[in-house]
Amino acid sequence: MTPFLLVSRSAEYESRLRSLLGARLDVVTGEFLTFGASSVVDRVDGTPRIALLGPVLNYEETHGLAEELTSRHPDVGLIVVREQRSDLEDWVDELALHAVLSPDASDETTLELIERLSAWLVQHGKASSRDFEPPAAVAAHLADPVRQAVETPFDALTGGDVVAYDELTQAPPVPTWDFPPLEAGTRTEAIAVVAPKGGQGKTTLSINLATGLAEIAPNSVVLVDADLQFGDIATALSLEPDRTIVDAVADAAADEIVLKTSLTHHDAGFFVVAGAPSPELGDAISTAALGLLIERLRTSFRYVVVDTTPGLGEHTLATLEHVTDAVFVTNMSVPSLRAMRTEFELLTTVGLMPSNRHVVLNQSERGSGLTVRDAERILGAPVDVEVPRSSAVLLASNRGIPLIHDDARDPAAKAIRSVVKRIAPEASPKRRKIQRRRTDESQ
Ligand SMILES: Nc1ncnc2c1ncn2[C@@H]1O[C@H](COP(=O)(O)OP(=O)(O)OP(=O)(O)O)[C@@H](O)[C@H]1O
Ligand SMILES: [Mg+2]
Repeated sequence: MTPFLLVSRSAEYESRLRSLLGARLDVVTGEFLTFGASSVVDRVDGTPRIALLGPVLNYEETHGLAEELTSRHPDVGLIVVREQRSDLEDWVDELALHAVLSPDASDETTLELIERLSAWLVQHGKASSRDFEPPAAVAAHLADPVRQAVETPFDALTGGDVVAYDELTQAPPVPTWDFPPLEAGTRTEAIAVVAPKGGQGKTTLSINLATGLAEIAPNSVVLVDADLQFGDIATALSLEPDRTIVDAVADAAADEIVLKTSLTHHDAGFFVVAGAPSPELGDAISTAALGLLIERLRTSFRYVVVDTTPGLGEHTLATLEHVTDAVFVTNMSVPSLRAMRTEFELLTTVGLMPSNRHVVLNQSERGSGLTVRDAERILGAPVDVEVPRSSAVLLASNRGIPLIHDDARDPAAKAIRSVVKRIAPEASPKRRKIQRRRTDESQ
């Protein structure tokens, strides 16, 4: 079985990938593209599970291949092998890609990405774990320790990597989550994520905060979509909730057990109060009901993270009355920075500035004409965390996976982790099993 396909015009990359994936890789050289994408796909053996397109393919060629492959093999995972460039987001949007890989990425990063996409395809029912097993000849070879010792043609697949594949491609475990009881006296925290204008990154921050906090308090984190008109957390997390915040506010007025039935569980170990099904239903929620919901959730969960509507409308003010922390998100544009300064002044005047304030400068980039110092001068406050603009944010959200799990090494993911640490200093990146195993074996 050859689960992996490479279409590229680089002989050097081809031989590198062959040494990493051995007999599980099928290669069709990009020269066949002269006769069209279908002539390339005609040459593919069996059903490819993951296709790597590039390097040295242009946009039209990649587009044609992606279309042809997905029409004949709808479940195929697509990775474009290409440098990060400014037009990358267009590629990702238009080609429905699963991932982008730099041709200069290390062998470890390359294998890790392929492993993660394989696991994702299995978890989403698009492939079976058996599809990624080495062919019989390779398996026999690996089972024979004497041959392994004298010949090493499948170098990169031996030892840890094969075990890692097995681990990653196992059927997903049956959910065993429950609501862990809060020990008496546990201090609970509620964190509002706010911004004076739309599109600054509140939802991105909220989702990743909940994900990071769930690592230290599994199943004791709840993420509330209180962007009452246009909440989109369920979509961003690929969840299909049966019940929403409209049910949750009604249940909060009843009792705690009933309230828990209006939550949707996410595999990362947190619960979601999904956004209202329509703007009218969201608007009908009273500020008092929203406040009561947050208070009720704080009696059962260690952390309550609340995503809000842009600006300082009555619902956001009501939220701020019931939280311990606020994460203020702005980008580097002068109007947003000025609006946030006004927001700080207003909240201080009305006495609603939460005791813990975290200022996040999101989507920062060089060449914006402003430095962080300039931004701080306009804000009249220090910036606590700077999160760079990164195409990985869009990729993660298109895949419906929290960024800090989707691409832990991305600079934006690392910066968001430092926001998590500000709220829960004990939080530190969870090491993945595969990395632990490799380290153990190398000792
Ligand atoms: N650091 C970043 N780098 C690149 N893109 C980002 C970054 N942060 C957010 N984005 C993108 O910006 C867009 C807006 O982000 P997000 O939805 O999180 O903002 P929001 O404040 O919740 O918006 P809204 O006000 O519409 O609810 C999304 O497409 C998201 O992928
Ligand atoms: Mg949002």
